[in-house]
Amino acid sequence: MSRITWILGNWKQNHRPPAAEACAKGVAEGLTEALREPHPSAGEVRVGIAPPYLSLAAARPFTRPGHGTWLLAQDVAAQDEGAFTGEVGPRMLGDAGVEGAIVGHSERRAYYGEDDAAVAAKLRSALGGGLVCVLCVGERLEARDAGEHESTVISQLSAAFSDVSPDALDERLVIAYEPVWAIGTGRTASPQQASDMHRTIRAWMRERFGSAGVDRSILYGGSVKPSNAAELVAVGDVDGFLVGGASLDPDSFLAIVRAAATTARPPEAG
Ligand code: PGA
Repeated sequence: MSRITWILGNWKQNHRPPAAEACAKGVAEGLTEALREPHPSAGEVRVGIAPPYLSLAAARPFTRPGHGTWLLAQDVAAQDEGAFTGEVGPRMLGDAGVEGAIVGHSERRAYYGEDDAAVAAKLRSALGGGLVCVLCVGERLEARDAGEHESTVISQLSAAFSDVSPDALDERLVIAYEPVWAIGTGRTASPQQASDMHRTIRAWMRERFGSAGVDRSILYGGSVKPSNAAELVAVGDVDGFLVGGASLDPDSFLAIVRAAATTARPPEAG
């Protein structure tokens, strides 16, 4: 498989610096063992953590370079700098040794009023600033129940990529499908539901961007645990995970990393 497998931990508003240091250290120390026997169909495997802003510096010594873990932020400003109280721009993140940012997480959309236009601006800001950009999309339960899950996600994608050209897309663009009803609820999408949506997203990316779109990694997020990670990857078209709660403990996060790295994907996935 040519697509990169990513396993990313989104710590949300958890782990103040001492706990962040311990967790990042635990992940770094266990990573070699977790990635010891990858299945060839997993391709290149990358592991990242996204601590809160003020814990990034504590985690930094246990991430790249030196250790294998990538360091990401949970958000990024739509603009590089200026009179924008409370915001942190892409170059500031880069200066702090941060390699990527999550954009459009459903909690930011729901609790902080981030609309599609704001998400689109942040995506352009992250990519333009040289960061890995993890774009989150996903439907609410009402949309799923009404059979509008695909149209909801496609409309989020169309808005986020409204002003992006194919040459702006490379491996730094990662998409995370996170059904809102599965986040923090213990209710995971079935492997088939995840795979079906990932195919829909990939087909849309192919249509919109050609080969630059089709090779992008599409992660699943929403109550991923050591016990369900392998079955989600095994069905095909799931290129890794964005993990919330289960990423707060190095052992459970590393168990998910191991499952994603060692589980065989069906041939021609995607
Ligand atoms: P969860 O969160 O794994 O705790 O469901 C996933 C996310 O919000 O990224």
